[in-house]
Amino acid sequence: MIVYYTGTGNSKYVADKISAVTGDDVRNVTDFTKGNAPFELFDDESLIFVCPVYFWGIPASVKEFVGNLKTEGRYFALVLQCGGSTGNAQGIFEKYARPDAVFGLVAVDNYCPMFRVPSGEAVIKGLDALDEKIEEAALKIKNREVGDFNVVKGALPKLNTAFMYPLYEPGRKTTFKVNDKCISCGLCANICPVSAIKIENGRPVWIKSKCDMCLGCLSRCPQNAISVKKSDKNGRYVNPRVKF
Ligand SMILES: Cc1cc2nc3c(=O)[nH]c(=O)nc-3n(C[C@H](O)[C@H](O)[C@H](O)COP(=O)(O)O)c2cc1C
Repeated sequence: MIVYYTGTGNSKYVADKISAVTGDDVRNVTDFTKGNAPFELFDDESLIFVCPVYFWGIPASVKEFVGNLKTEGRYFALVLQCGGSTGNAQGIFEKYARPDAVFGLVAVDNYCPMFRVPSGEAVIKGLDALDEKIEEAALKIKNREVGDFNVVKGALPKLNTAFMYPLYEPGRKTTFKVNDKCISCGLCANICPVSAIKIENGRPVWIKSKCDMCLGCLSRCPQNAISVKKSDKNGRYVNPRVKF
């Protein structure tokens, strides 16, 4: 089984492409954390977890999910996908679960609160380059290869993570704003992977203690009504090849 966590589609994109090679079923982690599906694997079934990198670490809710996994006796692979480099996200993940293989993929950066995110041709180029790397990783996963493969950690990964990951906690409590373009459709609340959004008087309200800062609400809002920090200037990103 391939399980992914996503805000803006890149992990789902990677998961679906790996599945096309390995034939494994693909599931959103929210099927198990928000839905009622029991998390069950067949004997000897492989488990592949596809995860975005946040602040050179991993999303907050992922820690709880992977910490409860029982992976003994099966092939367990982690695919870390990021906008630029992973830092020591692998080391953070391994505090909670021990994969047999770790794959690094550079996808497209979605972090619009601080950085201008790619659009148009740059996104297409980025995804085309990613496709080749996914194919390589998928073949290794199919053959149940063990080891670390192509994890782009960047310079001084441990130091960078030690400095940056503690900033994730205050970062994920940043205030989101909603403007008058909001049509009260409720999509933001429905897609939030951690149920951190309530609709009150027709408007989203964020429960900051739960928010993972995945940016799905902001990036997928059909009215572009949600913003955080400099996101209005920086644009927003959703994987254009993903059907949610
Ligand atoms: C809160 C947050 C923090 C991020 N931090 C990093 C980072 O430290 N390094 C990096 O390369 N990309 C970082 N990114 C970019 C994402 O890892 C990247 O765009 C990923 O492909 C998003 O996956 P998704 O579309 O499945 O949500 C960050 C994104 C978010 C939302």
